[in-house]
Amino acid sequence: MCGIVGYVGKRDAYPILIKGLHRLEYRGYDSAGIAIVNPQGDLNIYKCRGKVFDLEKFTQDKDVSGTAGIAHTRWATHGEPNDVNAHPHYSESRSIALIHNGIIENYAVLKEALVENGYTFQSCTDTEVLVQLIEYIKSTTNCSLFEAVQSALKRVVGAYAIAVVEKGNYDEIIAARKSSPLVVGMGDGEFFLASDATPIIEYTDQVVYINDGEMALINRSKPLKVVNLDNVETRIGIEKLEMSISQLEKGGYPHFMLKEIHEQPKTIVDCIRGRVAADGSNVVLSGVLANKDKFLNARRIIFVACGTSWHAALIGEHIIEDMCRIPVEVEYASEFRYRNPIIYPDDVVIAVSQSGETADTLAAVEVAKQHGAFIFGICNVVGSSIARATDSGAYIHVGPEIGVASTKAFTGQVTVMTMIALTLAKEKGCISQPEFTEVAQGLLALPRLVASALELDKQIKDLSKIFTYAHNFIYLGRGYNYPAAMEGALKLKEISYIHAEGYPAAEMKHGPIALIDSEMPVVVIATANNIYDKTVSNIQEIKARNGRVIAVVSENDTQVKDIADYCITVPEAPECLMPIVVSVPLQLFAYYIAVNKGRDVDQPRNLAKSVTVE
Ligand code: M6R
Repeated sequence: MCGIVGYVGKRDAYPILIKGLHRLEYRGYDSAGIAIVNPQGDLNIYKCRGKVFDLEKFTQDKDVSGTAGIAHTRWATHGEPNDVNAHPHYSESRSIALIHNGIIENYAVLKEALVENGYTFQSCTDTEVLVQLIEYIKSTTNCSLFEAVQSALKRVVGAYAIAVVEKGNYDEIIAARKSSPLVVGMGDGEFFLASDATPIIEYTDQVVYINDGEMALINRSKPLKVVNLDNVETRIGIEKLEMSISQLEKGGYPHFMLKEIHEQPKTIVDCIRGRVAADGSNVVLSGVLANKDKFLNARRIIFVACGTSWHAALIGEHIIEDMCRIPVEVEYASEFRYRNPIIYPDDVVIAVSQSGETADTLAAVEVAKQHGAFIFGICNVVGSSIARATDSGAYIHVGPEIGVASTKAFTGQVTVMTMIALTLAKEKGCISQPEFTEVAQGLLALPRLVASALELDKQIKDLSKIFTYAHNFIYLGRGYNYPAAMEGALKLKEISYIHAEGYPAAEMKHGPIALIDSEMPVVVIATANNIYDKTVSNIQEIKARNGRVIAVVSENDTQVKDIADYCITVPEAPECLMPIVVSVPLQLFAYYIAVNKGRDVDQPRNLAKSVTVE
């Protein structure tokens, strides 16, 4: 995790760096810091524990002048979040400053060697080793800073996106990446550097994505130079950003999460735009159609993902198996990558990731590649590492998701998976046209149905007040609603810090039922389907043990409304799309409970939006 920003040019670097850090705060927010080379050539570092806002206060009376600088917002891996462990880090002579996103795995060995050579360390971080190593190489071999960085990186094991500046040089930033993202914004006589494009869009829409294993020499009066660690120059490909600043702002909402929940009718429109025919007769997902032989001849489809994306993948598994009769497996990317999985060249691996930067998912993609499988990506962030590492893919097009708790990305992912299933089922000839049209029309109706579910906002807000001080929650669902229950539980725990478990409703009686008493709220998703009666029985079992039931039911509900303590009524959609509709009240429920508890909704403790470390 961690966010990196850099600027070199003719403007004051400080406001650009601070604004950029605010944009990247979703990546980590336990400490922040800045290094600026002032017009006299002094290299000043200011850093402190806390958020970017704390850094701003801290720097109020400091010399932050200068037209070249780098800045960092941290999510701690090595060393607790404090002032000293915050980035940037100085080298021994304080002539070099470095920021880092990633982990230097062999830092202990490198540190030992540097200590033997008289180097002293201030912090407990892995990062400080790298800046010290760069200085050691530079001073002992008399090479340039660029060469020293290149040589140091050859000795490093691990993941990194780094930016380095040097005392006396306000023309230049050196940057490099391996397994952590980095993008350079191309201005007129100025350059911007960041972990993603959000700090850059204000100034330029022309960007260069630095590839894995590459270094960039960013000099304000020279063309951008990108080389690999063996100094072989890479041809630079400038890309145009498709993003607007308004997408990065709260637009009147108190939190990004609430804004993103309410954006869903629109983001689903964006997701299906140009893909679903207006009458529901056809779905065109070009990345799937162009590779239909791979999919149709696949021995299996294997989803790899983490967190919310993994929940979406469970729904994808259900839809694809149900509609296309292709065997599907769903794997936690973090487990898959390390357990020597059996992967055949005729498997299709689908990597699902909002950010496209999750380290475990990216590593799972690499593992699958080594076995020759065809890799398809379902990502949100355009140009992200996973999007670029896969053979083909489909973007969810829901716009930047900034709240740490994923909401609109989840509904976008399930929407794309439904379109994949429809496309494959049609190509395979295993769905009748009326069945196809019913689901495709369901997709077209989704924005309206989700908008109608959003009208529950006031009811959910009131309901949340009753349960704000519960210590535990159970979420239950069956079939398509089981992953939705797990997703609802994840939303609650990550932003309110209330313990919550999502379970298949029928599994209750195999253990969790022992937890039920009058103190235990149980959220049951009990929408109409062919196992509705079974879910009703599960609710009866909870009520028989004095549990408090909050049920999510469909408009035509017949039985649950009479037995549940509280009912949330959502509009009906084809069964496979119900997880999208029911997720809306569950997102709102988690949101309002977290707000009632005074939690930091968009930046919950210990978390970061993009998990780029293992
Ligand atoms: O960017 P990704 O979809 O790969 O992220 C995966 C998880 O880290 C993410 O979904 C996480 O679980 C969210 N905080 C859930 O709200």
